[in-house]
Amino acid sequence: MIKQAIIPLAGIGSRLLPLSSVIPKELLPINGRIGLEYIIDECIESGIKEIIFIISNKKEMIKKYFYSDALFKKIIKNKKDKRIINEYKKIKKYKKMIKFVYQNKPLGTGDAVLKTRKIIKDKYFLMLLPDDLIINKNCSKSMISVHNKYKSSVMASMNVSKKNVSRWGIYSLKKKLPNNNFIIKGVVEKPKMNNAPSTKAVIGRYILPKSIFKKLLKQKKGKGGEIHITDAIQALINENYKFIGHNFAGKYLDCGTMNGYIKSTINISKI
Ligand code: G1P
Repeated sequence: MIKQAIIPLAGIGSRLLPLSSVIPKELLPINGRIGLEYIIDECIESGIKEIIFIISNKKEMIKKYFYSDALFKKIIKNKKDKRIINEYKKIKKYKKMIKFVYQNKPLGTGDAVLKTRKIIKDKYFLMLLPDDLIINKNCSKSMISVHNKYKSSVMASMNVSKKNVSRWGIYSLKKKLPNNNFIIKGVVEKPKMNNAPSTKAVIGRYILPKSIFKKLLKQKKGKGGEIHITDAIQALINENYKFIGHNFAGKYLDCGTMNGYIKSTINISKI
């Protein structure tokens, strides 16, 4: 059973400036809800019981969003607005399952994961990158089924065009499996077009083993001077850990860039 999920939220959000200059990008609204809510709901529907937010001291506003209930209480006391009562109940439900840890220096996704080392209890946990929204089909839920079947790590995969490979982590494939899954031979962070082993990209959903922490503790900085989760995953694959790629069925929306954010709003409003 996968019960814990982690969400790295310490990124500075430069690709969404000026919208992210005061408001953390994960609190920006998408069709009447904050973007982060879609990610939390994906976790809840997948059976996750505890969500760990990795924030920074510059993004305390995320904590406030779930903790400041004075206004809710005041309004509910004075007028019994059903919509507001329901929203308040929802926020209280979320608050109960969220824990916070801090990553005050943006040293990369691998470093963010390392900050959760002392809280992760089970052998495997889920990680969701909040810029990557997947709609129409719950990707985490499908990945957890794959995990239950193969008892291995699982990562989301999507085909991208050759000219865009340097934006993503890219897989090399060992063996095809049924139902759009494959065994991962390797993964490389943001390769140049000519060095890319495939056009299958890593999308931000990972079921990782607890043993990744051992690797992260020793992980040297990689591309761009950051500690990449991709490099720690490769280190585990080198030791014969099984990682499965899952070509997910849902629709991918990139909320981390301005153009993608605008498109996400349009797409989600049509559901
Ligand atoms: C991160 C990962 C990359 C992955 C991507 C998915 O990159 O490092 O391997 O393909 O998320 O969104 P970032 O978006 O932080 O540059």
